Amino acid sequence: MAPSNSNSSSIPKYFLLTGLFLLVIGMFYGVLGGFQYLIQGFLKSWLSFDKVRPLHVSSVVFWIILGASGSALTYMQEHTGKGLRWPVLAYAQFVVFVVSIFAILFSYVFGMFGGREYWEFNPWFALPITIGWIMFVINFIASIGSLRNQPVYVWQWLTGVVFFLFTFLESYLWIIPYFRDNVINDMTVQWKAYGSMVGAWNMLIYGCSMFLLTKISGDQSIAHSRMAFALYFTGLFNLMFNWGHHIYTLPTHDFIKHVSYIVSMTELAILGRILWLWRSSLREARKHLHFTPYRLVVAADLWVLLTLALAIVMSVPAINVYTHGTHVTVAHTMGATIGINSFLLLAFVADILTRGGQVPFVSERLFRRGLLLANGSLLIFWISLIVAGILKARWQVMETRTAFSLMMLQLRPVFIVFTLSGIVLMTGLCMVVYSLFRNYTSTFSSDKLS
Ligand code: HEM
Repeated sequence: MAPSNSNSSSIPKYFLLTGLFLLVIGMFYGVLGGFQYLIQGFLKSWLSFDKVRPLHVSSVVFWIILGASGSALTYMQEHTGKGLRWPVLAYAQFVVFVVSIFAILFSYVFGMFGGREYWEFNPWFALPITIGWIMFVINFIASIGSLRNQPVYVWQWLTGVVFFLFTFLESYLWIIPYFRDNVINDMTVQWKAYGSMVGAWNMLIYGCSMFLLTKISGDQSIAHSRMAFALYFTGLFNLMFNWGHHIYTLPTHDFIKHVSYIVSMTELAILGRILWLWRSSLREARKHLHFTPYRLVVAADLWVLLTLALAIVMSVPAINVYTHGTHVTVAHTMGATIGINSFLLLAFVADILTRGGQVPFVSERLFRRGLLLANGSLLIFWISLIVAGILKARWQVMETRTAFSLMMLQLRPVFIVFTLSGIVLMTGLCMVVYSLFRNYTSTFSSDKLS
């Protein structure tokens, strides 16, 4: 079939716009969850925490998945200079995703579950998502064409799309009795799959940020450099083997834990390099700050540093024993999904909607203020979760434990800070999203005029 260009570039924008919508409703559920920490029985009769948590987590995870897919599809077309191989397949993927995602969210509201943590929906919903993702893999690979002499970001995208499919299927091995019947094996496979799945969507996102930075600097050689490929392989190695810290508390084989601990520590090399390049990257950042989307990249850079530092501390088995299952884990997850994933995705959306700065940025002041508000409140939000986690860990190791309800009461001031900073965070991000939406409508109307 001959490649077709017609309208192909508009399809990924639907992914991005739906993703932004999910981000906003996801944050709204997050704030509801925060209130449920504070007010006992808040909305319990029709939207209890058991429903609000999966509504929040699934909405924001699907924002990341749609945002990463839409950004990679757009940037891949910019890279090849051609449209998608089969635009109709991208449409079909979009429809399958949107119908499944909204059906999943409705099913939660009606109390229909049956899945596992993070994917708490009925496992039947995994089927259309798998089919949609297979369409994505086929279309993506066919649209890229030859693999010869491709820059690192193409390899990152390909790794992301293929590994996501693999790890998503792996996270459903529990439906087969062979895996489900042995609880240790079952949990080992489950947590391994989740750890690697995050690595897979990170590959898609980091590929897009590499593409964006290459585009901004106008220097293609960075994306072909040995250092870029060395970092890519370290990321790939971690994606495959560093999930061990998820299972330190399980009585599984020691060698698995030792190997994964050593692999986790290779991330120190990445951290070291970020610190080494910090000064020069600041100098570089100042050069590009006038380009509005770049501000989000700079913010994400800071969160890479903070998240990696926390992750490395949490990977030390002697510390992991205490932090496991506390709010330190939630701090790690939210710090990464907001500070790194969401900030970078918003940068791509800003870049895509303003066609890389070719179209003037509308509502720039609103965008910058929103970003400042979101970044500052996220730091307080993140620290409050770590403090809550440390206090809970201390409670867990007390010789004579006080009652759980008493411990939660002592954490109340921390949760007040958490919820208030969460509200400010949501406000800041909504300002950013609104300004992006204004950009979309203005670019869209100029498109119609031209
Ligand atoms: C971009 C925005 C956000 C993203 C990507 C995000 C992501 C996440 C993720 C992935 C989790 C699961 C954490 C885990 O199980 O380790 C989570 C839990 C949670 N989030 Fe968010 N979040 C966001 C914003 C917010 C906001 C604004 C609030 C408001 C207070 C909030 C409140 C919560 C609560 C209460 C939980 C449940 C923690 C628990 O299980 O006790 N989130 N979030």
